[in-house]
Amino acid sequence: MTGAATTDLSGATGLSGAEGPEVTAGPRPSPSAPEPVRVDGRPGPCTVTVSPMRRRHLRAVLDIERQVYPRPWSARLFEDELDRTGRVYLVARVGPTVVGYAGLLMIADDGHVATVAVHPDWQHRGVATRLLAELVEGALRLGANQLTLEVRVSNLTAQSLYRRFGFAPAGARKAYYADNGEDALVMWAHEVSGPDYRRRLSELETSLRPPTVRQGFPAAPPVPSNHPSA
Ligand SMILES: CC(C)(COP(=O)(O)OP(=O)(O)OC[C@H]1O[C@@H](n2cnc3c(N)ncnc32)[C@H](O)[C@@H]1OP(=O)(O)O)[C@@H](O)C(=O)NCCC(=O)NCCS
Repeated sequence: MTGAATTDLSGATGLSGAEGPEVTAGPRPSPSAPEPVRVDGRPGPCTVTVSPMRRRHLRAVLDIERQVYPRPWSARLFEDELDRTGRVYLVARVGPTVVGYAGLLMIADDGHVATVAVHPDWQHRGVATRLLAELVEGALRLGANQLTLEVRVSNLTAQSLYRRFGFAPAGARKAYYADNGEDALVMWAHEVSGPDYRRRLSELETSLRPPTVRQGFPAAPPVPSNHPSA
């Protein structure tokens, strides 16, 4: 998505997984109860947990990264991003399985969406919508007032996702993608800290069934005792 995606995969080996148990990426596990099936034959909605990305997730993240991007990010690049401030990096899991991830970096009060990806077996089930909603929430906590991203002009699925979050095309970057020389569409969502955008985000979030389970996020600051809602 960003120019950073042009790094090679040479550093993608040697993950320690030292922070906790390994999580897996890839095909759906066989749940004991069958999942509901939609009329189009795809599995129905399932419980998705979104949490901050940790180093222990990187093996699974890189496995997805290699499947969905022609020039995948390296492990080192993800590690560097996780070490930096002003970043929001998230994973989506179904049970223990990492099914998608997303990342954003702040520059002044602009939130730059750096990556959103979902394992091919789990696409079209609202996983990216859930990730993007939490990514935007994270950006708002870091003081974002605008959001921006680049997307391949041919990637209509991603563009449709971003439009639902209020992103609109604002220009193009010629031959932005090194693998095939494709142009990037530059999209922006403005005034995301205002009440209209807050309403849009709430509507998107409440439309998600079942609701996203959020895990491992810092608790919201306590409401001051003299606050009207306290
Ligand atoms: C783009 C990408 C992240 C979207 O992920 P996703 O999880 O499939 O996205 P969602 O399921 O939230 O939304 C995709 C579509 O499925 C639909 N959908 C979601 N849940 C659904 C459900 N339960 N029933 C029916 N349709 C559903 C959404 O409405 C959306 O439809 P639209 O394309 O007509 O707007 C994914 O295709 C991907 O990883 N692509 C490769 C990497 C990439 O291109 N990333 C973006 C770089 S800019």
